[in-house]
Amino acid sequence: MFAKNKPLIFNISSECKTSKARVAKMILPHGEVDTPVFMPVGTQGTLKGMLPEQLEKLGLQILLANTYHLGTKPGVEVLKKAGGLHKFMNWNRALLTDSGGFQMVSLLKLAEITEEGVKFQSLNEQKAEVMLTPEHSIEIQNAIGADIIMQLDDVVKTTNPDKKRIEESVHRTTRWLDRCLTAHKNPDTQNIFPIVQGTLYEDLRIISANDHIKRDVNGFAIGGLSGGESKDDFWKVVHLCTNLLPKDKPRYLMGVGFAVDLVVCCALGVDMFDCVFPTRTARFGCALAMTGQLNLKKKEYAKDFNPIDKDCNCNTCQNYTRAYLHGVVTLYPVACHLLTEHNLAFQLRLMQNIRDSVQENRFPEFVGNFMVNLYPDKK
Ligand code: GUN
Ligand code: ZN
Repeated sequence: MFAKNKPLIFNISSECKTSKARVAKMILPHGEVDTPVFMPVGTQGTLKGMLPEQLEKLGLQILLANTYHLGTKPGVEVLKKAGGLHKFMNWNRALLTDSGGFQMVSLLKLAEITEEGVKFQSLNEQKAEVMLTPEHSIEIQNAIGADIIMQLDDVVKTTNPDKKRIEESVHRTTRWLDRCLTAHKNPDTQNIFPIVQGTLYEDLRIISANDHIKRDVNGFAIGGLSGGESKDDFWKVVHLCTNLLPKDKPRYLMGVGFAVDLVVCCALGVDMFDCVFPTRTARFGCALAMTGQLNLKKKEYAKDFNPIDKDCNCNTCQNYTRAYLHGVVTLYPVACHLLTEHNLAFQLRLMQNIRDSVQENRFPEFVGNFMVNLYPDKK
């Protein structure tokens, strides 16, 4: 089905007339993905609290995993012997892996970035110093076998004002992109996406995007955002980047998953998102709803026999009350499962509503209603 060297087809079916929102079908080696899409994160080959069979039943089409965690455990050798992560974890639909450096820099304060790669203390027992190079990241991602793999990038936080350092990160990210493209062994079955960097500097974002679009790739990511900048700054950079990136290829905004950001960034022309937030917050007893978030640990839910959300048709909302969830919320596995299932169903329904409204030419009204629901006092 796929042309040589192009294991991704992106068919846009509808475009909004008043914003940059669009609906498309992205066809990948392990299945189809309707975009705009939210991709939940299963860092180590498991989305905590859910079986892959349950994710499939919910309608999830693509899952994200992390390179460095999987490269440490089970490791490249086991992944290769298992025939890749799809087989290993029993997930037969599309997968995307992030390249690893960002996780190390955000998890481990001690990570050091040099031209060679990202240096940090390993997560295994020996705690030895290891170097994650662009080549090593791609080697692990080739063994994992995800449909979309990410380049190793040099990420600087948006709160860092040092323009020289940010300029260095932009050019290094492009040099690392070329090293990743050279090291990539499976271009017929796995797509490498470059990542646009440059924090809040318009001129640097322009350089980064223009350098990346010269490469022969099937999609692009926007990185380095959602790190403490204001919403105004965040949205301005997304708007700038989606104007620079080609219209006919998917655009992936990394690390973004709050409902309001998904709605706004779809309007700005983003097609793919990922974030740990919906699943992580579920594990802390927090359920997502169109009107905001419910912290089920709160006493006010002890005698509340309503479902989390009467409009949600997930198993949790069909069969369990807020009072029950309040009662079990500290009993880790059961609450983790029930709330994770609901929060995933919430994200999926939100994205489906966005796609339907674009397709039916009513996206502006959808955005208006969404905002009034979320911010009723500010009508
Ligand atoms: N996840 C969230 N933001 C980023 C980013 O800028 N780079 C990578 N590799 N992953 C991310
Ligand atoms: Zn639900």
